[in-house]
Amino acid sequence: MKFLVFNGSLKPDGESNTFSVCKMLQLAFNKLGHDCEIVTMRELDYEGSTDDVNDELKPYIMKMFDVDGVVFATPIWWGTHSCHIQAMLERLDFIYSWAKDNKYQPFYNKVFGTLVSGGGDGFQHIHGVLYSAASNFGFTVPPQCNIESKAQGIEEIKKDEDTFNQVKNCATNMTVWAKILKDGNPTVTARHGSVDVNEALAEGKRIPRKKGQKRKSKKHSDLYTDEDPKGTIHGLGFKDEATARASITKIRKSGRSHAHKIQAAVAMEQRARAAGKTGPAAIYRRYINSMKKKTKAKNK
Ligand SMILES: Cc1cc2nc3c(=O)[nH]c(=O)nc-3n(C[C@H](O)[C@H](O)[C@H](O)COP(=O)(O)O)c2cc1C
Repeated sequence: MKFLVFNGSLKPDGESNTFSVCKMLQLAFNKLGHDCEIVTMRELDYEGSTDDVNDELKPYIMKMFDVDGVVFATPIWWGTHSCHIQAMLERLDFIYSWAKDNKYQPFYNKVFGTLVSGGGDGFQHIHGVLYSAASNFGFTVPPQCNIESKAQGIEEIKKDEDTFNQVKNCATNMTVWAKILKDGNPTVTARHGSVDVNEALAEGKRIPRKKGQKRKSKKHSDLYTDEDPKGTIHGLGFKDEATARASITKIRKSGRSHAHKIQAAVAMEQRARAAGKTGPAAIYRRYINSMKKKTKAKNK
């Protein structure tokens, strides 16, 4: 089997504690009879983006489709993961959106592990953040696939028994679970597609958030409004018909998921109606109806 390690250290390989632990993990995979490639992200000329960018990182993102498991490796900086690993979470966003729109999770049946090098403060937070992202990207996180190496200095790391045992656990469990997934192929019956879009939202109906409900709760559909500014499509309006038409073009080109586009248009239609702007509201409604037709065709 094949494994890919993204090394997010900010230091060159020869000086990096994180890279030293990555090398140990590579050796452990090799000893078990598997291939393992380490990608040192600081050596790549890449863009921070949520789009599908054709740069030096892209071939490695594409490689994730061919391997059986992926490891994100990072030093701890002020309690959190490095900018390179953050860039990975962002760069995988277009695949995440694609999976939702196409109801197919390409990373199902692949395992995910974390490797953190630090002085001993902040490991669990990093594992948690990365596990959460990996799970939403469709990976399986096997037990004990989180390396936390406290050893500092390349020579110390090489002889650190704690690091050695964790590396062994990680490589063994990743390969064991990757094989189970490969042989069992649970992806055949697993539910693909959306993770944060509920059925009503896919139909474009709004279920307002009630007092006390969490922002990201699945019991309401207010995921893409001003309450969640990260996902907001900026620059939409309803003051006249021309603005509504221009806004629909913006929604179309936003690169957001099908459901997200509907939700944005529904919010604008409601606002236009509340403001008595029947013309702009009707323009949004036409777009919503055309999108709902597409939803129906997709669900057939
Ligand atoms: C500015 C700075 C901040 C750090 N913050 C943390 C931290 O919050 N928690 C921790 O355990 N280690 C922290 N460390 C230690 C590094 O994570 C540790 O030395 C790590 O092994 C470095 O890996 P690298 O050689 O690949 O850069 C910090 C180090 C520096 C220089």
